[in-house]
Amino acid sequence: MFDSYNRHINYLRISVTDRCNLRCEYCMPAEGITMISHADILSFEEILEVVRHAVSIGVDKVRITGGEPLVRKGIVSLVRMIAEVPGILDLSMTTNGILLEEFALPLKEAGLQRVNISLDSVDPEQFRKITRGGDVLKVMKGIEAARNAGLDPIKINCVIRQSPDELQARQVAEYCRKNNLQIRYIREMDLENGEFYVVHGGSGGDCARCNRLRLTANGMVKPCLFNDLEYNVRQLGARKAIELALENKPACGTINSTGEFYNIGG
Ligand code: 5AD
Ligand code: SF4
Repeated sequence: MFDSYNRHINYLRISVTDRCNLRCEYCMPAEGITMISHADILSFEEILEVVRHAVSIGVDKVRITGGEPLVRKGIVSLVRMIAEVPGILDLSMTTNGILLEEFALPLKEAGLQRVNISLDSVDPEQFRKITRGGDVLKVMKGIEAARNAGLDPIKINCVIRQSPDELQARQVAEYCRKNNLQIRYIREMDLENGEFYVVHGGSGGDCARCNRLRLTANGMVKPCLFNDLEYNVRQLGARKAIELALENKPACGTINSTGEFYNIGG
């Protein structure tokens, strides 16, 4: 399906939870977040309804995000259910990797094809600081498990302040080179102040070529991460919510004053 600016929309990103087992400095405030109440989180059936409609209008690429998708109860079953929808050619996940050692193989068996893993530093102390307590060794074991499970390609998302030349980023790049992983640099963004950037080596943030719609964990179809527009699946039904998101997808992102990465998905 084409939007009103003639962009071919074939990519749906689904945030399955706003919860996370890390607290990255650039993503979450130290004091914590107001979480979506359980009643407002879409059920697997409701998510599938959106996926089926999205596929019927031409979506063939789906990414599962969070928060941290692996903390959603039953995530492997959800992945299997999505993988079984005919017409999905590319099924991926963005994860922080902390739980991947346990989940990589079951996810692969359920039909997940590939993963993007967030890794901003390979230095245990730095990593602990950035994520407010995370263990980088767990992520590294998760990366190994993903490789052993046959998830391919494995891409590493590395958030940078300004430039890939920063020391932390260069160390991550070196780790990626040694371990045969693709790296993508994501400049730290500020949704509320309209600061967003094209992802180096990726496709995000490039408005003229944007091919995506998003579904939030509480059932909003969002045409753009950098905009407040959202269409409620429970109120409008999946078909109408998707239709409105397509019709109203803005030419270019501006400001998002109501959402954050952890509830919309990175
Ligand atoms: N700027 C850029 N990327 C962010 N993410 C979260 N917060 C931000 C931010 N402020 C992205 C990271 C992470 C993913 C889950 O969300 O890339 O890997
Ligand atoms: Fe969790 Fe990802 Fe946000 Fe870090 S960036 S707190 S891993 S959702």
